[in-house]
Amino acid sequence: MQCRSENELQILVDEAKHFTSKGKVADYIPALKRANRNSLSIAIYNPDGNYFSAGDISESFTLQSISKVLTLALALMDRGEEYVFERVGQEPTGDPFNSIAKLETSIPSRPLNPMINAGALAVTHMIKGNSVEERFSRLLTLVQKLTANSSIGYNKEVAESEFETADLNRSLCYFLKQHGLIKEDVEELMDLYTKQCSIELNCLDLARIGCVFSFDGKDPISKEQLIPTHIARICKTFMVTCGMYNASGEFAIKVGIPAKSGVSGGIMGAVPGRFGIGVFGPALDDKGNSVAGMKLMRLLSEKYSLSMF
Ligand code: DON
Repeated sequence: MQCRSENELQILVDEAKHFTSKGKVADYIPALKRANRNSLSIAIYNPDGNYFSAGDISESFTLQSISKVLTLALALMDRGEEYVFERVGQEPTGDPFNSIAKLETSIPSRPLNPMINAGALAVTHMIKGNSVEERFSRLLTLVQKLTANSSIGYNKEVAESEFETADLNRSLCYFLKQHGLIKEDVEELMDLYTKQCSIELNCLDLARIGCVFSFDGKDPISKEQLIPTHIARICKTFMVTCGMYNASGEFAIKVGIPAKSGVSGGIMGAVPGRFGIGVFGPALDDKGNSVAGMKLMRLLSEKYSLSMF
């Protein structure tokens, strides 16, 4: 069954919206505190370029951890699989996204996967370029191509706000540097990482990126292969195993769609061979996932039989 009208989507949004009251807006990055806790919106982007949406999809938000999928794709394109996975593992963790614990207990020290902060920082370090500006601009160009939206930029206020308060991430960087996984200046890496997290877009842009992943890295409209097939597949696999952090197992059972969340409240979904999904609902659960967003994805998956399992 296929979604045929915005009314159908609106009914699901209305049902999931009650769950916004169960969550809290992220406040550890001061600039994120201002988000409207009651917001909930969704866009579904089809490979023929048509889309359906419900809620206020003009609301923009920052990618936060959703950017980890895109930096992974870029690092894999820049360095190849062997190089990347010698330095970052491929296994899920049951720990929170910003945990340092496993870095201490795994020998040799290596982040468990590219979706937790430690792994994502190591991956961002791998992006090629002669300066932070050049590396960031290469990432932004990829995002602009994936969204077919050249106006996408980053939110300077959110980037600065995170840069000023990211001491836990700095400590992860220093740990990684001590173990030879990061060689550059930590402040430079933090500059790049906080900018990648602050790339700003809306649900429709996010759904379009999801759609490209649904079609294994090929833009279904322009037919251009934006990300090599095997790399898009690796990214999608990580979305299944680690995309919703330590809620990924439950999400796979209840929803069954490769997805990645961020603390701004965004969720990107890629229904293999069918369409992309962009959701925004800033009220988060204690694991950092959008509460109403996850409920909405579940309702959607049940209604249209979207689970890949
Ligand atoms: O590293 C951080 O703290 C954020 N910029 C991104 C974290 C995030 O989105 C975790 N997601 N649920």
